[in-house]
Amino acid sequence: MLPLTGEGAPHWRTLVAHQRPEWPSPAELGDVTDHLAALPPLVTPQECDTLTAQLAQAAEGKAFLLQGGDCAERFDHLSTRAIHGKTRLLQRMAVILTYASSVPVVKVGRMAGQYAKPRSRPTETVDGRTLPVYRGDAVNGIGFSQAERRPDPARLLRMYDASRHTLDVMRAFARDGTDLRQLHKENQDFVSRSPAGARYDELASRIGQALSFNDACGGLPLRTTELFASHEGLLLDYEAALTRHNPRSGRRYAGSGHMLWIGDRTRQPDGAHVAYFATIDNPIAVKVGPATTPEQALALIDRLDPDRRPGRLTFIVRMGADRVRYLLPELVEKVTASGAPVVWVCDPMHGNTFEAPGGHKTRRFDDILAEVAGFFDVHKALGTHAGGLHLELTGEDVTECVGGGTDLGFDDLHRRYESACDPRLNGGQALDLAFLVAEMFNPEATGAVAPDAAVNGAARGARHSNSPA
Ligand code: PEP
Ligand code: CO
Repeated sequence: MLPLTGEGAPHWRTLVAHQRPEWPSPAELGDVTDHLAALPPLVTPQECDTLTAQLAQAAEGKAFLLQGGDCAERFDHLSTRAIHGKTRLLQRMAVILTYASSVPVVKVGRMAGQYAKPRSRPTETVDGRTLPVYRGDAVNGIGFSQAERRPDPARLLRMYDASRHTLDVMRAFARDGTDLRQLHKENQDFVSRSPAGARYDELASRIGQALSFNDACGGLPLRTTELFASHEGLLLDYEAALTRHNPRSGRRYAGSGHMLWIGDRTRQPDGAHVAYFATIDNPIAVKVGPATTPEQALALIDRLDPDRRPGRLTFIVRMGADRVRYLLPELVEKVTASGAPVVWVCDPMHGNTFEAPGGHKTRRFDDILAEVAGFFDVHKALGTHAGGLHLELTGEDVTECVGGGTDLGFDDLHRRYESACDPRLNGGQALDLAFLVAEMFNPEATGAVAPDAAVNGAARGARHSNSPA
């Protein structure tokens, strides 16, 4: 039998790549990938290694990953304002989580490359008319017409340009730095305006006191800068064209983003995605859904991190609020027993999606919070580390998820529903979540009563009268 990793392993091109678009013209695709192969990579190996080192800390509980951004980025929504909004929101959440966790928060955007979507069905039917499904701006258009839905490889070049532009903006913000005091002031304004704000008041004051203490001690200039880019590495033709090999070091990096992940639908241990990911040296992640068996998780570790390099492999768990407590323990136990140093991250979004009565895809804030609480509780019980959060969010004031401090209901969803794919937390809901997750780290330091009471209280506050039971 052929080995699945290392020398002699089958090339990913010879394996099944699930979710690969039906590109109409292989010649046209070839021209595009040749063009991409001649362009500079978007990220450097050093930056990728820096992130791996920070994730190695997260694996040990000495850092916490905050990864977030759109479900699907859009070419038409590429604005400095929107990039700034997401960056700023991640920074503001990080201030709260850093204080609560007492460890550095590693910020990674679902940004600068999140343009391709795996889909459950290949087609979509509207008013009796069936067309290929939208697969993200990197593949086809969202408009419901035959022309729009035709996969167009030229879109891969637009993906590269849009990603480069986004990274340029992210890097400029990072260079300028952000004053922690200013971020804290914005959080305090949120607390004073939010209907649920009273509940966060104590924690916000404690963060303010900590910042003052640091100033009084002539402490470090409190600036927060670094932000990494990540996306699902779904389109292997694009990823391979941007992969660069350094013959001197012998290392090979995906140049499309710092961290790439494999989706829950493409994580087959003998599939093309796993085979390609095994060949790159970036920090990588795999989405782990409710169907994942411990044996599959261990097979993924063997294929993707045979050397057990800390920070190399992250498991992003997305079980659903009702399942995480009974499905996660066995996975964590068996992986831990194998000695693999994976980072355990909670994606409380993708296992909690449903259709609202008006037809919008949505998620309940309560469910999101409950999945995070379950994830934290499992790790606490096993003595392992809750290493981070993976969220779909935007700084814009959209109405896509229900609940949260302002108690958005099903009737509000039509007001500003802009996601091309899954519903995101808006800025206020994301901050609500950061404050409530903060209470899970250390209830005493954050002024919370007790973790269970905190979660139940928030669930009550966030429940909307329209929510079905
Ligand atoms: C996503 O992150 O948007 C996604 C499709 O996730 P998953 O692979 O977990 O379904
Ligand atoms: Co999504």
